[in-house]
Amino acid sequence: MDRPSALIDTRIIYCGDCLDQLRRLPDDCVDLCYIDPPFNSNRNYEVFWGETKERRSFEDRHESTRAYIEYMRPRCVEIARVLKPTGSFYYHCDWHASHYVKVMLDQIFGENNFINEIIWKRQSAHNDAKQGSKHFGRIHESLFLYSGDAAEYQFNHVYRPYDEEYVEKFYKHIEPETGRRFQLGDLGAPGGAAPSKGNPHYEFLGVTRYWRYSRERMQKLYDQGLIVQAKPASVPRLKRYLDEGKGVPLGSIWDDIKPIQSNSAERLGYPTQKPLKLLERILEVSSRPNDIVLDAFCGCGTALVAAQQQGRQWIGIDISPTACRVMAKRLRDVSYVQESERLWRLGRGFVVRDLPQTEQQLRKMPPFEFENWAVIALGGIANKVQVGDMGLDGRIYPVSVIPTVKSGSLDFMDIWYPIQVKQKDKAGRPDIDAFEAAMIRSERMKGFFVSFDYTGDALTEIQRFFTQTGRVIVPLTVKEILEQEIARKLV
Ligand SMILES: C[S@@+](CC[C@H](N)C(=O)[O-])C[C@H]1O[C@@H](n2cnc3c(N)ncnc32)[C@H](O)[C@@H]1O
Repeated sequence: MDRPSALIDTRIIYCGDCLDQLRRLPDDCVDLCYIDPPFNSNRNYEVFWGETKERRSFEDRHESTRAYIEYMRPRCVEIARVLKPTGSFYYHCDWHASHYVKVMLDQIFGENNFINEIIWKRQSAHNDAKQGSKHFGRIHESLFLYSGDAAEYQFNHVYRPYDEEYVEKFYKHIEPETGRRFQLGDLGAPGGAAPSKGNPHYEFLGVTRYWRYSRERMQKLYDQGLIVQAKPASVPRLKRYLDEGKGVPLGSIWDDIKPIQSNSAERLGYPTQKPLKLLERILEVSSRPNDIVLDAFCGCGTALVAAQQQGRQWIGIDISPTACRVMAKRLRDVSYVQESERLWRLGRGFVVRDLPQTEQQLRKMPPFEFENWAVIALGGIANKVQVGDMGLDGRIYPVSVIPTVKSGSLDFMDIWYPIQVKQKDKAGRPDIDAFEAAMIRSERMKGFFVSFDYTGDALTEIQRFFTQTGRVIVPLTVKEILEQEIARKLV
């Protein structure tokens, strides 16, 4: 297979456990890795997809902090292996396990390679500190930054605009002619009266001492009007203008990036989606153009979008096929990069690899993932509103229907077939009965049912339903979908 990058294939979303996927990558190949694994929250995530209110549980597998750490440890060991010695690693987590995570990461990356704990203040108030609760509002998350083993690692300072208080305090002088604010800086040599680095010693404007700059440079600054002396024989000082300052170097508390709000333009409805600005900042600090960025738990692909937009190479890994499809769509829609094997080989588009393709893999998938897989494999659209859509899992709009606009509305939207999915060895009569009821309620004449197999009773019932009502249920097996390669073509 052709390689768009000499070192390693990039612009790929790998579907699978990052432990397995990382093991396939060579040593020392990644410049920046960011991860935001599911937290050890000991509760079920309520997942709301899109704008609608589909509530699904997303089992948090980690029963205890210890189990969580033991789950994460081998994955972080792999990350440390693939990270270049000059690379950087960010682990995003919160109070549930952050202290244990820090200890684990010190063991893996080395205490000396710990650079920072960044506090991302994501909210000013939190609803977990309601009246009656007996704790402070949990309003921040932590990001642990480690470097690889090399003495030098990528770090580009980022500056924030000065705030008013800072300006008042440190730029208190105003130039009367121009109105420009400035501060007065020290011109003395660093180290005071006996500097060690051989700074020059001479007389300037009646003051003899060790100076920061050579006599020629001092003279030039003076001629430019940048050196001021309050009164004769007082120590001259250097004018530094506010409008020429870079700003305040960013510290370890980040309180200027808002979380994704329900009305954020970038919101996809994916649980725990992180703001693009956060990832943009991380990439800006710890990578250069064309560097290789890895997100091994990439959810809906925020890090990949940031990497694509900043001209970095990227690799994403996620265990969820649904997340992989969501992020692929996001890359196409938001970053305008095409999902195409042909273009990828030419070094332009991107590809998704290792989506589940065998019955065995599909049997092991969480039910929600399996339903999405089956619906998408048939070219359908997964239903967002379970409750409001009679329990159906998805719908197909037949390709034969040509959209026509009648009196301002698209009437082809009325022609759709329901899809019902059961992740069972054999779907039985009660499953078919429930689907028949849903078809009648939604006034559908044809529907698709997907399962691994069917009992004899279920197939007899499908036949009876057709004879008595003229309505068709097409029983599809997973094997059929896979063999017809529908999955590969349509997912
Ligand atoms: C908190 S979300 C990441 C959100 C992401 N930072 C974003 O902004 O969209 C965590 C993701 O990790 C994925 N995940 C969980 N276990 C995994 C594993 N072992 N390997 C790869 N991905 C995994 C989940 O499917 C989920 O999409």
